[in-house]
Amino acid sequence: MNDIARRTVGRTGLTVTELGFGAASLGNLYHPVADADARAAIEAALDAGMTYVDTAPHYGRGLSERRVGDAVRTRADVVVSTKVGRLMDPDASITDDRERDGFRSPMPFRMRYNYSHDGILRSHEHSLQRLGLGRVDLLYVHDIGGYTHGDAAGEYWEQLTRGGGLKALARLRDEGAIAGFGIGVNEIAVCLDVMREMPLDAILLAGRYTLLEQDALDMLLPACATAGTSIVIGGPYNSGILATGTKGGGVLHHDYGPASDAVIARVRGIEAVADRHGVRLPAAALQFVLAHPSVASVIPGLGSAARVDQTMDLYRAAIPADFWAELRHEGLLRADAPIPATTKETTA
Ligand SMILES: NC(=O)c1ccc[n+]([C@@H]2O[C@H](COP(=O)([O-])OP(=O)(O)OC[C@H]3O[C@@H](n4cnc5c(N)ncnc54)[C@H](OP(=O)(O)O)[C@@H]3O)[C@@H](O)[C@H]2O)c1
Repeated sequence: MNDIARRTVGRTGLTVTELGFGAASLGNLYHPVADADARAAIEAALDAGMTYVDTAPHYGRGLSERRVGDAVRTRADVVVSTKVGRLMDPDASITDDRERDGFRSPMPFRMRYNYSHDGILRSHEHSLQRLGLGRVDLLYVHDIGGYTHGDAAGEYWEQLTRGGGLKALARLRDEGAIAGFGIGVNEIAVCLDVMREMPLDAILLAGRYTLLEQDALDMLLPACATAGTSIVIGGPYNSGILATGTKGGGVLHHDYGPASDAVIARVRGIEAVADRHGVRLPAAALQFVLAHPSVASVIPGLGSAARVDQTMDLYRAAIPADFWAELRHEGLLRADAPIPATTKETTA
C-alpha cells in the first residue's frame, strides 16, 4: 500500500513523495555496503512507495549513481536528482576502499571541482552514463559556498555565475533535458546568494532546517515561498544524532563530525519531552520538517532494507499535539516554526 503523500516541486510539474531516499549511504558513506544490501535498500524504498531518489557523483565517486541507476531503470514514475560541480577524473592508483572524503568506495576516480558552463554540462553527461539512464529530473549544484570551499569559495562562485554554470543549467531545462534545477548545500547564506542570481526550482538543504535548528525561518524559507522554490530536506537527523538520540553511548554524530556538548544538551532536552509523550525522536525529526509548506520532501540516509522499514514506521507514527506544544513552551522549538497539523494513523 502506498500511503506516502505526494507534493509538487516548484514549477517543474514534478511530483515526489514527501518521504524520499537519500542515496549518499549507497556510496558507502563511512562504511562499506555490499552490493546486495544496497540493492535491497533501494528496492525496499521503491516497494514501500517512495518515488524520489537523490544521488550525486560525489557519493562514493560514482558508486551511488551506479547503484541507483541499476535499481530505478525499469521502474516507472521515479524522480531522480543528481548533482553537478564535481568531475570524476580516472585514477588507476586507487585500488582499495579506504575512506576518502568520507566514503569507503573502491571506484578509481579522483574528484575535481568545476562549476563552469562546460563543467556542468560535462558533469550532467557523465552522470547519465554512470546511472545508465536517459535522463535525470533534477540537478543540484553541489556544495557551492564557503561551508565547503572556505577561501576558494570566490573562485567557484565566479565559475557558477560569470563562468556560465547557472546558464548551463537553464539551458538544460529550456531544452527539456531536465525538469528543474537548484543547489544542494549545508548552508543558508549561499542559497540566498544564488537565488539573487537566478530563480531556482528547488533547494536541497541539508541539516539547516531540522528539529535541532530552524534559522532558515528567518530569511530563506520566506524567500522560497515568495519565489516558488521548493525545499528538499537532506540530513534530517543532522547526520545521526536526531536518529540515534543520546542514550546509546558511543560517538554521537552531528553535521558529519562528533556532536558538541551544546548540541548534545539540546538533543537531551528534546528527548526528555519526547519521553514524556511517548514519542520517538526520529519520528519527530522526520515529521517536523514536513509541516513546512515549502518542503517538498524529506530524504533521510537509508543504507539497508531494515532502515527503510524502520523509517516507514517512523513516518507513520502518531505524534500528539501536546508534544509540539511542550517543545515550544520549553524553548526547544521556535514559536514560528509550523508544526504537523494532525496526527497520523499508525497503520502497518
Ligand atoms: N550538500 C548536499 O546536497 C547534501 C548534504 C548532506 C545530505 N544530503 C542528502 O541528504 C541525504 C540524507 O543525509 P545523510 O544521510 O547525510 O544524513 P541523515 O539522514 O541526517 O543521517 C543519516 C544517519 O542516520 C542514521 N540513521 C538513519 N535512520 C536511522 C534510524 N531509524 N535509527 C538510527 N539511525 C538512523 C544512519 O545510520 P546507518 O548508516 O547506520 O543507517 C546514518 O548514519 C543524503 O543521502 C543526501 O541525499 C545532501
